[in-house]
Amino acid sequence: MILVTGGAGFIGANFVLDWLKDPNAEGIINLDKLTYAGNLATLASVKNDSRHLFFQGEIGDRTLVARLLQEHQPRAIVNFAAESHVDRSIYGPTDFIDTNIVGTFNLLECARKYWGVLPDSEKRKFRFHHVSTDEVYGSLAPTAPAFTETHPYEPNSPYSASKAASDHLVRAWFHTYGFPVVTTNCSNNYGPYHFPEKLIPLVILNAINDKSLPIYGDGQQVRDWLYVGDHCSAIRAVLVNGELGQTYNIGGWNEKANIDVVRTICQILDELRPRVDGQSYAQQITFVTDRPGHDRRYAIDARKIERELGWRPAETFDTGIKKTVQWYLDNPIWVEGVVSGSYRDWLQKQYS
Ligand code: NAD
Ligand code: TYD
Repeated sequence: MILVTGGAGFIGANFVLDWLKDPNAEGIINLDKLTYAGNLATLASVKNDSRHLFFQGEIGDRTLVARLLQEHQPRAIVNFAAESHVDRSIYGPTDFIDTNIVGTFNLLECARKYWGVLPDSEKRKFRFHHVSTDEVYGSLAPTAPAFTETHPYEPNSPYSASKAASDHLVRAWFHTYGFPVVTTNCSNNYGPYHFPEKLIPLVILNAINDKSLPIYGDGQQVRDWLYVGDHCSAIRAVLVNGELGQTYNIGGWNEKANIDVVRTICQILDELRPRVDGQSYAQQITFVTDRPGHDRRYAIDARKIERELGWRPAETFDTGIKKTVQWYLDNPIWVEGVVSGSYRDWLQKQYS
C-alpha cells in the first residue's frame, strides 16, 4: 500500500482517483483532516473500492499516524496535506504554521521511526514523497530565467514561507538521518475538483452566476499553469524512478498573465454557455485591490524531470482549460456541495 495525506483535497483526490483507475494498482490509505478544502464527495466514486481506506485525521497526530503505519505497512508516503491558499495565509497564518511546518515535522518523525525498524529489504524500497510548490522560490523579474531546482529559496507569503520551511525539514531528514525522501516543486495547478477560492474555478463559477470576476491589481502577474492530471502523472513518475534526496520541478511550460487566463475562460464560456443578453462574460471583469506582497511572476524550468525521468505534460493550456470549464458546467452538484456557509463567509471577507 501507499499512504497519501491530504487525499480529499484538490490535487490529492485527483491523485487517488487517477491511481485507482489502474486495476493493478496498490491500495491507498488516505489520511485527511477534512478542513474546508477537503471533500469526500470528490472521492464518491471510490467509496466502495476496497483498495481505498479513508481516515479522517491530522498529519500531526503522531498516535494516529503511527497506528496507520504499523497496521498497513505502506511502502511509500505521499504528503499532499497542507493549508494551500495564499490569501487565507495572509488573513490567518496560524493554521499554515501548524499543518505545513509542525504537521510535516510530526509526520516525518513518525515515518522515520516506522522506517527505522523495517526489515532491510522493505527499508530499501521505502520513500517519503513531499509535494511542494514553486512559490518557495519567490518572484521572478519579467525576463529572468525560469526556476531551476537550484534557485535560492525566497518565499514571500506566509503560505510559501511555511512550505519552504517544510521543504527544508524534509531535506534535513535526508541529510541527517538518511531518511529516504524526494521533494517535488510544482507550478499552479488547475482542473476538476478545484476548490473555488482559487482563481480559475472562482472565475468560472462567478461568471455563470452573474458575479464580478475579480482581478487583483493590474492582472499582469504571471503564473505557469499545469493541468492537475499532469501533476499526478509526474508524481507517479517520481515515485517510481525519482532519485532519493533529489528535488524535481514540475511545470506546464504555460506562462500566462492572470488577465489572459480570465479572458480565455470568458471566451470558452461565451461559446459553451452564452450569456442570455449575448454579451461576453469579459464584461464582468473587475479590477480590485491587489494582494499584499503579490508575487509578480512564477515560471518553472521542468527540464530536469524530463531529462532524468522522461516526464512531460500531456495537456496544453488550451486543451486543459477547455476540459476544466466543461467539467464545472457538467458538475453543479459537486459545486453546490463545496459552496458551504463558511465558503460564503470567506468570499464576503475577501471581496467585500
Ligand atoms: P487543498 O487545499 O485543495 O487540499 C489540502 C488537503 O489537505 C485538504 O483535503 C485538507 O483537508 C487536507 N489537510 C489540511 N490540513 C491537514 C492536516 N493537518 N492533516 C491532514 N490533512 C490536512 O490543496 P491542493 O491544492 O490539493 O494542494 C496539495 C498540495 O500540493 C499542497 O501541499 C500544496 O502546497 C501543493 N501544491 C499545490 C499547488 C496548487 O496549484 N494547488 C501547486 C503546487 C503545489
Ligand atoms: P491563486 O489561484 O490564489 O493561486 P496562487 O496565489 O497560489 O498563485 O491565484 C492565482 C493568481 O490569480 C494570483 O496571481 C492571484 C490572482 N487572483 C486574482 O487576480 N483574483 C482572485 O480573485 C484570486 C483568487 C486570485
